[in-house]
Amino acid sequence: MDHFNYVDGVLHAEDVPLTRIAAEVGTPVYVYSTATLTRHFKLFQQALDWTDHLVCFAVKSNSNLAVLKVLGDLGAGMDIVSAGEYARAKAAGVPGERIVFSGVGKTAAEMRMVLEGGIRQFNVESEPEMELLSEVASSMGLRAPIAVRVNPDVDAKTHEKIATGKSENKFGIPIAKAREVYARAASLPGIEVVGIDMHIGSQLTDLEPYRQAYAKMAELTRALRADGHNIRRLDMGGGLGIPYRRDNSAPPLPIEYGQVIRDAVGDLGCEIEIEPGRNISGNAGILLSSVIYLKEGEGRDFLILDAAMNDLIRPAMYSAHHDIVPVTEQAPGSPVAPYDVVGPVCETGDTFEKAVELPALGAGDLVALRSAGAYGAVMASEYNSRPLVPEVLVNGDQFAVIRARPTLEEMLGRDTIPEWL
Ligand code: LLP
Repeated sequence: MDHFNYVDGVLHAEDVPLTRIAAEVGTPVYVYSTATLTRHFKLFQQALDWTDHLVCFAVKSNSNLAVLKVLGDLGAGMDIVSAGEYARAKAAGVPGERIVFSGVGKTAAEMRMVLEGGIRQFNVESEPEMELLSEVASSMGLRAPIAVRVNPDVDAKTHEKIATGKSENKFGIPIAKAREVYARAASLPGIEVVGIDMHIGSQLTDLEPYRQAYAKMAELTRALRADGHNIRRLDMGGGLGIPYRRDNSAPPLPIEYGQVIRDAVGDLGCEIEIEPGRNISGNAGILLSSVIYLKEGEGRDFLILDAAMNDLIRPAMYSAHHDIVPVTEQAPGSPVAPYDVVGPVCETGDTFEKAVELPALGAGDLVALRSAGAYGAVMASEYNSRPLVPEVLVNGDQFAVIRARPTLEEMLGRDTIPEWL
């Protein structure tokens, strides 16, 4: 459920008509709903209320400071993968003890930065990383709390570019090597083992891969405890999928996911961490865009929007579907026609979707691309020298620009022409 609904024939974000945001901020623009972010976060809290837990929002899915502050103020932890994301989490007021650091390529500088600023745990992905972390932490007179990310070799049954839990993927260490790696961890002066971590992929719409992976996690917890390690936290990763289409069967709910975790590891007495991103932010955002032209082609009509693949790359990159709906509600029974909905970027790949059934639309009409709150703005670029798309946060009947659209001067001002030119 989200908070983007038609009221009096106009699509609203909570109590704000999208027509108002378009008029005041211009398009294209991302619009987020505080109520939806809050609701989704709380569903995960409830799903784990049977135990000590921390819901760490995956910052990579939506890293706007205002979004992080909404979630941080509700008590969320943050799952970060870079110095930049750490700085964002801190700037949003989230304390280091609620931040976990994931990612396959942490640098020494990043390790030092988060050890200085405070960190809950490193999710370590390789032995060389663990050795370096031990050196960095020791040199600061510290021991770095770690969980080793273990690759359980299960098929997450999702898009190949976002599956991470198979042995052929670059992530984690093979589960068969885990005991050896933990033994090495225990011998390193700058390392303190606190738990185990897994993340098997994103946009999972079936709980079975989780069941398989978490059963392996439980078995490993017992084995590592028998080896003398103090395993007290289990990080179960993120990845629970969202409904991208209103009309198909919905993926499992957070409460069902929480039950899978409970069934697998509930008897181990560990604190549970999860790292959902998309499930919290995805349906909390839309990309609002205007039609620039209706172009009649041979056998098909193109709706050329002012949003493009540089603003929302998921369709071009993963063949992802986003529902495209008119901001002015279609009267029941009014005729629809198929349109190829495209952006102005000079690539055929700049197509949001082909043959979308929409009512008659033309220049100046507004459309919303739904489910764009996760991996939307964060993956945007300035390709074709299109300034970064702005972001707006709605809360009830108020809204604020939470990232302004850069002017052309600001965009150009980041380049410099060397004096010898
Ligand atoms: N934890 C780790 C270690 C991750 O790598 C990810 C996502 C998450 C948590 C959050 O996963 P989520 O709950 O959002 O599924 N750009 C792609 C998705 C990439 C996901 C990368 N890792 C997309 O647009 O579909």
